[in-house]
Amino acid sequence: MQPQNEEHKTITELIMQAKREATAETDTEPEPELTSAVDWPVACTVGPGLEGAIACETRVGYVNGKKGWLIYRGYDIFDLCAHSSYEEVSYLLLHGQLPSSSEFEEYSNRLRRYRDIGQTLRLFMSFPIEQLHPMAALRLGTNLMRQKQTYRDLDVDPDHAPIAADEDSIAMETPPLGEKEAIYEFASGAHTRPEKASDDLTGSEDIDSCYHLISGVATLAAAIVRLRRGKFPLEPRQDLSHAANLLYMINGEVPSVLEERIMDINLILHADHGMNASTFATMVVASTLSDIYFSIGAGISALNGPLHGGANEEVIKTLGEIGSPDNVDHWFETAVADKRKIPGFGHRVYKAYDPRARILAPLAERMAASRPELHQLYQTAKKLEQRVVAEYGEQKKIFPNVDFYSGLLYRAMSIPQNFFTPLFAVSRVAGWTARVIEYLEHNRIFRPRAIYTGDLTAQYRSIETR
Ligand code: ACO
Repeated sequence: MQPQNEEHKTITELIMQAKREATAETDTEPEPELTSAVDWPVACTVGPGLEGAIACETRVGYVNGKKGWLIYRGYDIFDLCAHSSYEEVSYLLLHGQLPSSSEFEEYSNRLRRYRDIGQTLRLFMSFPIEQLHPMAALRLGTNLMRQKQTYRDLDVDPDHAPIAADEDSIAMETPPLGEKEAIYEFASGAHTRPEKASDDLTGSEDIDSCYHLISGVATLAAAIVRLRRGKFPLEPRQDLSHAANLLYMINGEVPSVLEERIMDINLILHADHGMNASTFATMVVASTLSDIYFSIGAGISALNGPLHGGANEEVIKTLGEIGSPDNVDHWFETAVADKRKIPGFGHRVYKAYDPRARILAPLAERMAASRPELHQLYQTAKKLEQRVVAEYGEQKKIFPNVDFYSGLLYRAMSIPQNFFTPLFAVSRVAGWTARVIEYLEHNRIFRPRAIYTGDLTAQYRSIETR
């Protein structure tokens, strides 16, 4: 998929080498009970937090934690990272198969069109974005992207609509142009209200909204970084790939081939990961036939929790705290004595080496080789990995997870630490939307039970007597 130059070939080879190592270390037999259709209702053992519960069947993706497998629509993550692009992978997740050339062209053109979310950004910038947590800002922006529905909510005759409150709150640096319905200019494009509001408040089945979100959330995220840096958002570049455009919109510079490729791989790696908390949250909201924008907002909210996203921020802080490879042993021994969990290691599902960490580790080495300022950070990380795996690998099945090297790579691309989790969301929109679309084909509203263990016979007493 990618045009091949020397840098691409080197990276492809690094990933294929990682794949060979993974294959040599893991059993290649699938687990039939986890990969075949079930007869509903299904009997399974359920733990607190729905652990072990089977909520649905899916063809989107498969994680096998014992073997260290991650598969999207049948394709191994190593092959996708080596040969594909985020655009192609997001199409694969949504549509179930790799696109033909013409399908790919049409899809990537639509994604490019949806990069431009000027109307949303106008609304967005009327909020104090620089004062919001980046994830809160991303969630807000996703909600504002829901414009078909927002305008419908006004419940007015679109032909006689007054200037809406939404429009009043638009940032004032670009004045309205004095039309009956205000038109605002954003960079080179003029944006007007949609001609007719959607009659359908759900919109969840609308694949176009998925494309809109996959592209638009990236633009929003980059705008958040810029606004927090006291700069205006940049207009997206139509001539760049999704990954290169994202980096361009963040840093204002077209990235190097190495940076573009590494960002692309990071986006592919984070695009889907089984029935995790944010995916489930997204699907729960969608199952009520709420719209896809609200559903993705729920996914962003769930991802914000420290038990889900954000360990890569902690990894960078930890590596900073350790300081140099010479301090690793002492730091590690103190951490063990304090019973401290080491960020970037261990995983709820993977009890083998996380395949995503296997892919990112050699990329971090490659990046560090071209950046002297990263050398010490990388060497410290490498030594910590060796020490943790030697101590805990065999014994406790604790290995590096995806977060261990991703922070280091993001840092090399000038991405601020508190933006690592929003970047995760930018990528995961593909998996979230794909799973929602699939689930809605046979939708059933989620409704687990709780076991009531409270009192059954409490007698009501008036407030004065309590
Ligand atoms: N460092 C040291 N010891 C660890 C670590 C770690 N990172 N992770 C687990 N352990 C130990 C625990 O102390 C426990 O030891 P014990 O049996 O002697 O008490 C044992 O391994 C099992 O630990 P649990 O917490 O039960 O393992 P679980 O699989 O539930 O936890 C989790 C997974 C939460 C990810 C955990 O490994 C952790 O906190 N890691 C650090 C944070 C992190 O990197 N999170 C990112 C995960 S990747 C992602 O979400 C995208």
